[in-house]
Parts: sequence; C-alpha cells; structure tokens
Amino acid sequence: MSKIIAFAGKGGVGKTTVATLVVRYMAAMGKSPILAVDADPNSNLGETMGLDVPTTIGDIRETYMKNPQEIPSGMDKINYLELLVEQSLIEKPDFDLLVMGRQEGQGCYCMVNNILNNFTDKLSNHYKYMIVDNEAGMEHLSRRTSGKVDMLFLVTDYALRGLRAVRRIHGMLDKLKLDVENVAIIVSRGPEELSDAFLEEVKEIGIPIAGIIPNDPALLEFDMERKSLLELPDDSPSVVATQKLMDEYSPVA
Ligand SMILES: Nc1ncnc2c1ncn2[C@@H]1O[C@H](COP(=O)(O)OP(=O)(O)OP(=O)(O)O)[C@@H](O)[C@H]1O
Ligand SMILES: [Mg+2]
Repeated sequence: MSKIIAFAGKGGVGKTTVATLVVRYMAAMGKSPILAVDADPNSNLGETMGLDVPTTIGDIRETYMKNPQEIPSGMDKINYLELLVEQSLIEKPDFDLLVMGRQEGQGCYCMVNNILNNFTDKLSNHYKYMIVDNEAGMEHLSRRTSGKVDMLFLVTDYALRGLRAVRRIHGMLDKLKLDVENVAIIVSRGPEELSDAFLEEVKEIGIPIAGIIPNDPALLEFDMERKSLLELPDDSPSVVATQKLMDEYSPVA
C-alpha cells in the first residue's frame, strides 16, 4: 500500500505550490516511486511542474461516454478504460503525474466512475508514495475505496479566514469517511514568528503546525515565466522551508 500525503485548504492559499515542493523534496530524498495526483478540477499541478497534461481522467470519462460502443476488438470496457488511464500517466524519472480533471457531470456515469476509481486505487499500489493536491471538498479522496490518508496537510495563509477553512475541513473529515492518520497545518506566506492571536486560534482548532513557508518572491517569478518549481534553486526560501518542514515533521516521509 502506498503512503498517502494530501493537501487541502482554502482557494489560493498555496496548496499546489507546497504539494509541488513536497514532490520535489520526496524525489530528492530518493522516495521514488512517487505518484503525484492533481485532484483539483481547476488543475494546475502539471503547470507548476512544467509538464503538459494532454489527457485527464475527466477527458477519458467524457470521451468514453460519448461513444461507449467504440472499444477496440479483443478488449472489454474495463481493460479499455484501464489502458486509457495508464496512457494518461505522465512519467518522469522520479515521479509520475495523474490528473483527475473535471468531476463527473450530469447523468449516471456510475459504472464508468467505479471502473476509473477502482483502477486509480489499484494503480496507487505501484507507488511508495502518493501526493495528492486536492480541492477544498476533497471529493477525490473521499471517493477512493479505502479512505485512508497517512498525512493530511491543511494549508492556510497567515490569516484567520484561512484558519477558519482549516477548521471547517477538519470538521468534515468524519462525514467524508476519511481515515486520517496524521493531520497538521502548513502556514503559507507566514512570518518567522506567528502572532499570539493566530497561535491562539490554532490551539483552539487543536491541530499542530508542521511548519511555515515564507513569502518567496521566486515563486511569483517562476509563475509568471511559466517555469517549473522543480527547477527552483536549492537555496530558495520556499525550498529550504519545505525541506525543514518535512525533515522535522514527517511522520510518514
Ligand atoms: N510562499 C509563497 N510565496 C510567494 N508566493 C506564493 C507562495 N505560495 C504560493 N504563492 C503564489 O500564490 C499563488 C497561489 O498559489 P497556489 O496556486 O499554490 O495556491 P492553491 O491553494 O493551489 O490555489 P487554488 O485553490 O486556486 O488551487 C501562486 O501564484 C503562487 O505562486
Ligand atoms: Mg491549486
């Protein structure tokens, strides 16, 4: 079974950035094989890694639903859908990337969804680690057959509103039937010293802080120039902070 490290939090707080930096860290630590999963329908994990994403699981579902009869001879629909998922994997030397894409639309796609979900679950067993960048609702994680998550990082900006989202997501875990082994907060764009008011709120929520990623101007520059965050210099503040965070707070890594 692969270990699952997942990221969730309010929109725009830095989930995809930190997820990418953690993939980079895990790859550098020789933790391959790693499967990075972009589970946010407004997906951009591929972009932050400088990778083109020709096909998502959502595309496979749409294409299949338009022409369910069009299965190559000698294959059944399960083999066919599984083959398409395998082909959609973007393979790099240190990790692979799977992009979930659009959620299912109208109409009953249950059978197709079950096949796709079961196969992505099965696929994850081929990896030591699965690193999942989620949307706030964590739909993808809750649809997996096993709801096990080894490490859930709730990412917040340095604002009480971000922490409120952390509290809400934390409160949803039971309802989503997720079995989360470890949960911790990452403060994105935080100062070195967090204010008492912020720490008080965190204490009330009752989740430990794994670490702080400082404001890093290089991230904006790389974003603007569409450069992969995997190519950030090793001494960039966000890279150094991610390394510290994972070295010091890594129940699973
Ligand atoms: N520590 C940081 N320092 C400077 N800029 C940052 C930092 N973290 C994130 N950013 C910038 O903030 C923007 C949003 O970050 P990101 O896309 O990672 O957030 P997100 O939570 O994944 O957003 P969404 O909810 O839209 O998926 C990006 O332009 C990113 O470069
Ligand atoms: Mg994102």
